[in-house]
Amino acid sequence: MEKKPYFFDPSVFSYNYLFLFTKTPSYRIPSYNPLSIQTLNDEAVRAETIIFMSAALEGVAAFISPFINNTIQHPSVYAKLCAEITHAENSGALSSPVATYDETCRLPYFMACVYETLRHDAPAQTILPRYVSEPGIEAHGFCIPAATEMAASPYIIHRDQDIFGEDADEFKPERWMGDQERRERMEKYRMWFGYGDRECPGKTFAHLEFQKLLVEIFRRFDIESAVIPGKGLRHERWAVAMFWNHWVQFRERL
Ligand code: HEM
Repeated sequence: MEKKPYFFDPSVFSYNYLFLFTKTPSYRIPSYNPLSIQTLNDEAVRAETIIFMSAALEGVAAFISPFINNTIQHPSVYAKLCAEITHAENSGALSSPVATYDETCRLPYFMACVYETLRHDAPAQTILPRYVSEPGIEAHGFCIPAATEMAASPYIIHRDQDIFGEDADEFKPERWMGDQERRERMEKYRMWFGYGDRECPGKTFAHLEFQKLLVEIFRRFDIESAVIPGKGLRHERWAVAMFWNHWVQFRERL
């Protein structure tokens, strides 16, 4: 196979961040499977702690922030979402004091907002790196040798106009409420929990956590942006997205 140079888009900063992280000797993820041994050594405990701190805690937090921001910054979305939750509440479709997970899944507009936030602002802007297997692969005219460490960026895939439409840059929950064929095609390419056999093992738990929490927040509070002038919301797309100056005002509903 003819060898050609390969490249990563340098703007995909998150990949470089993760690369540095996994190359730092004291934090390197062990090459063996920790579940196959009886006792976790110091290195394995450190690696497990880092994975669970960044994956489990930061992932969900990095979803809640853009979900609230996207909905309150789009008044028509916010109005439709609140109307759906209020209607469900008034018709007895939500348990008290806390809605069940299944009940939250039966709120179509809420679920469209969930998918659209995961697509538009994926909490993890990269997936974990993989090694290319023998004999290497050819992609888009580039030859990538075996044993090359590679990752992909959900940010770039989720903005592919051939998959998500010409308005892929915009936040539009309605794209998930269209015809079934279009929705299935978009779901096929979704990467917000990664892809393949290393896909996020916490994805079901994450859905349960943030769906119940968000329905309760929107059920109990009126929410407004309270960003201080000159100190706008800062959203950095690191390996896990980070937010600063996300000031929001909650008013308890009477
Ligand atoms: C919105 C929330 C979350 C998002 C967006 C998210 C996303 C991801 C992504 C993109 C990966 C890399 C998958 C790949 O390379 O294909 C990953 C890995 C992982 N996630 Fe999550 N995650 C979330 C919540 C959670 C939760 C709640 C847990 C645990 C309870 C969790 C545990 C893990 C673990 C342990 C890995 C590493 C898997 C491995 O090494 O193969 N994640 N997650």
